[in-house]
Amino acid sequence: MKIAVTGKGGVGKTTFAGTLARLLASKGEKVLAIDADPDANLASALGFPDELLQKLEPIAEMITLIEERTGTKKGNYGGMFTLNPKVDDIPDRFSVSYKDVRLLTLGTIQQAGSGCFCPESALLKTLISHLFVRQTDTLIVDMEAGIEHLTRGSTAYVDMFIITVEPGLRSIQTAFHIQSLATGLGIKNVYVIGNKINSAYDKRLIKSKIGDTMKVLGYISYNLKVIQADMNGQAPIDIDDRIKDEVEVISHAIKEENLK
Ligand SMILES: Nc1ncnc2c1ncn2[C@@H]1O[C@H](COP(=O)(O)OP(=O)(O)OP(=O)(O)O)[C@@H](O)[C@H]1O
Ligand SMILES: [Mg+2]
Repeated sequence: MKIAVTGKGGVGKTTFAGTLARLLASKGEKVLAIDADPDANLASALGFPDELLQKLEPIAEMITLIEERTGTKKGNYGGMFTLNPKVDDIPDRFSVSYKDVRLLTLGTIQQAGSGCFCPESALLKTLISHLFVRQTDTLIVDMEAGIEHLTRGSTAYVDMFIITVEPGLRSIQTAFHIQSLATGLGIKNVYVIGNKINSAYDKRLIKSKIGDTMKVLGYISYNLKVIQADMNGQAPIDIDDRIKDEVEVISHAIKEENLK
């Protein structure tokens, strides 16, 4: 199963993606977590200790690899390079594992239409397609906030889009934008989770605003332990059972939907 976690900035995409990845891995699933946010921080939500954090290098910054695979230099605009570089060994060679979650950090992907058609972009695009088409592991992709980066190329093989919202109209409006964009890209399985929930009112607000447009898979409470984990560079799941239980409920809903 291949899940992309999206939503407005700061709503808790990384917190949710990291917790889901760790939870599924703890249940024996082979999980490959992908940090597709240029401002990468999924590793810390996964609980990666400092010595492993130092080993992480975004693929887009691996100059030698990019040169070797594309036949040209990084940032070479307009030069000749192969559009179909070898990528199948990248997940195994360049992912870093912690507590059974393998993590791959992509780095900055050039926007479609930005005029850039550079080698690192070719490598990343090929890698993303490869990951989605070939990988049999459970893939959990922590996406960049917003919608501009969502293109057919990067989303074609996603099984499920999970949009994180918080109680408030702004992140819900973003959810609708993402949903209409996803629909335009032919993605049908677009779901919502509510995060930072303080009350039954918060849940009702989300549910009523989302209406029948998308299914709400579940909710995560506003949780001071989650903030504490972020401050200490810990995985929320390692210090708190509540978020673990709530994400477990969501994971069951994900499986049910995936069987439909
Ligand atoms: N359930 C929660 N309760 C309290 N705080 C939370 C909760 N979920 C996330 N946070 C806090 O909100 C902040 C943003 O969370 P996170 O980084 O997961 O969001 P994001 O959507 O990935 O952000 P970005 O758009 O910057 O990637 C962090 O400080 C995190 O600790
Ligand atoms: Mg994030």
